[in-house]
Amino acid sequence: MSVSPARNAAFEILMRVETTDAYASELLHSSRFEKLSTADHALLTELVMGVLRWRRVLDDKITAFSTQPLARLDREVLTALRLGTYQLLFLDRIPAHAAIHESVELVKQARKRSAAGMVNAVLRKVLNSHFSQNRAVVAHPTFDYSSTHPIWLVERWTETYGQESTQKICSYDQAAPATAIRIGFGASRQRNIAEAKGKQFAPGRLLAHAAIASGDVTRSAAFREHRLMIQDEASQLVALLVGEGKNILDCCAAPGGKTRIIAQQNPDATVVALDLHQHRAALMRRLVTEANVRIMAGDIRQTPFSKEFDRVLVDAPCSGTGTIARNPEIKWRLKLDDVARLQQYQVEILTSAMKHVAAGGRLVYSTCSLEPEENQQVVERVLAGDVRFRVLDGKDELRKLQQSGELTWSDLDSLLTGPYLRTLPGVHPCDGFFAAVLQKN
Ligand SMILES: C[S@@+](CC[C@H](N)C(=O)[O-])C[C@H]1O[C@@H](n2cnc3c(N)ncnc32)[C@H](O)[C@@H]1O
Repeated sequence: MSVSPARNAAFEILMRVETTDAYASELLHSSRFEKLSTADHALLTELVMGVLRWRRVLDDKITAFSTQPLARLDREVLTALRLGTYQLLFLDRIPAHAAIHESVELVKQARKRSAAGMVNAVLRKVLNSHFSQNRAVVAHPTFDYSSTHPIWLVERWTETYGQESTQKICSYDQAAPATAIRIGFGASRQRNIAEAKGKQFAPGRLLAHAAIASGDVTRSAAFREHRLMIQDEASQLVALLVGEGKNILDCCAAPGGKTRIIAQQNPDATVVALDLHQHRAALMRRLVTEANVRIMAGDIRQTPFSKEFDRVLVDAPCSGTGTIARNPEIKWRLKLDDVARLQQYQVEILTSAMKHVAAGGRLVYSTCSLEPEENQQVVERVLAGDVRFRVLDGKDELRKLQQSGELTWSDLDSLLTGPYLRTLPGVHPCDGFFAAVLQKN
């Protein structure tokens, strides 16, 4: 019996995630897998995301039944074991024999024949173990979700946000988040909804011009023609904080989600969208259709501009710990040292971007990280060396968005930590974003 297309593809993607810095969500949407049937693609997504989300639970189970330590197993063997274990523990509808047999076939295909017997034996023991009789018990609501994340992350979030919020963050990270979209304004909003035929939309939970889609919007004409964007509501909110300007710089811009909102909000402005990587700038050229955007490739730390900007967005590269529900591999890849290294890079980027702000202009610094080192500590470090800038009170900025009808979330205080915007996954129905609004004298 050969391996089904969904399990073959899941094995391939999990191996790439394990051995390169590729992201599962990008691989899942790559052209290589677009020919899979809708049902196969749904199973593929379930398998890949499930294994990445529950990896710690799966590894504990495999460790209990393997005669060899996990660290000594070949990656192909461990990946096949994780895939099989995930199906046995979490997917009631999949027959156990198919889950076991196909994992055995996968190691054979990967030229690890000698491990086939061991994979078979471990998975049979998993099947016969306690959870096999109660296959859904692991995902039971009383499950301690904090044990689904690395201990060091759970400890630092508990210290920063408290136990209750940390539990909510961990729990939110374990399921596919809602698909939020930016649906456009006025007539284009109606057209986009009409063209996304058969799709159900619920109102946005934070924003008036956002919506929550059920079903696969990526197959709609409005999405294919880049009129309808998939973008988390917290990310949309950060772009809205940029406000109104005439000359706007988005200096870490790709793939351009926030650039598009800024350009739509400011149709008479020129928006310069810069990104370090040529290939990401090229991606923006395909995705960003607004006529008032100029796209450039370059490093903000070295790019000269002939003019100053009255609005600047620095959506800095970061650890991404606020987006683990979408990118679960982050929790396994990230190391404590990375956080300090990222802070240094963010300080350099922010310091460089501030040089391009006109007198009286504003800069929004944002990340999708939950780590204070990448957020307020970056802002504080940079402002300690530059008295021309001050932090504006985020509450005033959010209130303006509320008064304009854009922000529909009523509890503004819950969105703030001091003067900063701070959303937390699970506490709020969105990704975890941080934003600081800085004003230049
Ligand atoms: C968080 S992502 C930006 C997401 C984007 N703002 C959006 O909403 O779609 C950060 C981006 O910064 C870019 N980047 C990293 N270092 C940079 C640098 N020194 N100068 C300019 N862009 C940089 C990365 O290539 C990446 O595309």
